[in-house]
Amino acid sequence: MKTAKIVGQIPPSGIRVFFDLVLGMKDVISLGVGEPDFVTPWNIRERAIYAVEEGYTSYTSNKGLVELRREISKFLKNKHGLDYDPEEEILITVGVSEAFDLSLRAIIDRGDRILIPEPAYVSYRPITMLCGGTPVSINTSPGSNFKITPKDISRLCDKKTKAMILNYPNNPTGASYSKKELKAISEVILKRDLIMISDEIYGDLTYDFEHTPFATLPKMKERTIYLNGFSKSYAMTGWRVGYACGPKSLIGAMTKIHQYTMLCASIISQMAAVEALKSGERSVQEMKREYRRRREFVISRLNEIGLSCHRPEGAFYAFPSIKETRLSSLEFSRRLLEKEKVAVVPGTAFGSLGEGYLRLSYASNMDKLKEALLGIERFVKSLSQI
Ligand SMILES: Cc1ncc(COP(=O)(O)O)c(C=O)c1O
Repeated sequence: MKTAKIVGQIPPSGIRVFFDLVLGMKDVISLGVGEPDFVTPWNIRERAIYAVEEGYTSYTSNKGLVELRREISKFLKNKHGLDYDPEEEILITVGVSEAFDLSLRAIIDRGDRILIPEPAYVSYRPITMLCGGTPVSINTSPGSNFKITPKDISRLCDKKTKAMILNYPNNPTGASYSKKELKAISEVILKRDLIMISDEIYGDLTYDFEHTPFATLPKMKERTIYLNGFSKSYAMTGWRVGYACGPKSLIGAMTKIHQYTMLCASIISQMAAVEALKSGERSVQEMKREYRRRREFVISRLNEIGLSCHRPEGAFYAFPSIKETRLSSLEFSRRLLEKEKVAVVPGTAFGSLGEGYLRLSYASNMDKLKEALLGIERFVKSLSQI
């Protein structure tokens, strides 16, 4: 059957390709998947059970339950001083994944260039292409802790450049930005008249300083689509709830597409999300404390083993260099899996700039992390003995 040419041009997700190898193998310790090892806190699960018992099984408004939009509005106001009107400026989506897709569909005209700092989350480039846009990579490296600078943006901008995607804390590098760094970036965004798509799904998991939403910077609210959700902070990946906040015109355009494609996110998940916000941040803070503890352990062990690794400022990923071993990312990951039964993601899953790196998720319990790092240590030692 003939499929659209563009689908042929986008590669399958590098994470999935690698994890097809893992499937079918027994007793593998996986540091591969990007999801919390915690289950969703009980009060949230209980609310969903009641919702089903009470017969909440219908569609909701396309924009999402008004109660949830109000809770999100309140949460952003209290936590960050951000003001979004729940009626016109907030849209509930099926995870940040859908919110991201809608953002690009709502803004891209064929041939528009979209700036993407790389290495980047796996879906940014393919979705940009599927929307008819041209992804333009902004290279980052360990020399700058995988951060972009205003100069990088200026250098790559031309008349066709419409938007930039910024994800911080970053998947896969863990890089994040201080308020001062973001302010400098915002000045170029304004000067170049760009839209900012700010994926802040890991915002609550920022370890060394306060997270600053991009929309809080001067003159940025009117040109930012703020994306966030429940998957990471509340360990709710399977519930599929996220949201987009932004100017009325953009949220209106996104809602138009959403009403023909998804209609709405599951009512049960939306009710659970209301409970998540109402119950406050205690469980989020507990999980964050545990991730921070694991970060310290994983980073110090990797450096001890000789895989140089910068200190991630947020999210739950370490991104060590394996360049010293002279193996490609894929080769390293494949052989580590075969020899030690430890699964990690080759850096190339996040674009060609990921060559020479691995992504390890520390959203795994300490015992597993200890065992996995022992396996990595044995493997690296065995390489130097060849
Ligand atoms: C940077 C980033 N954005 C978006 C997503 C997707 O999140 P959701 O589960 O809300 O669709 C992920 C998931 O790993 C992610 O890492």
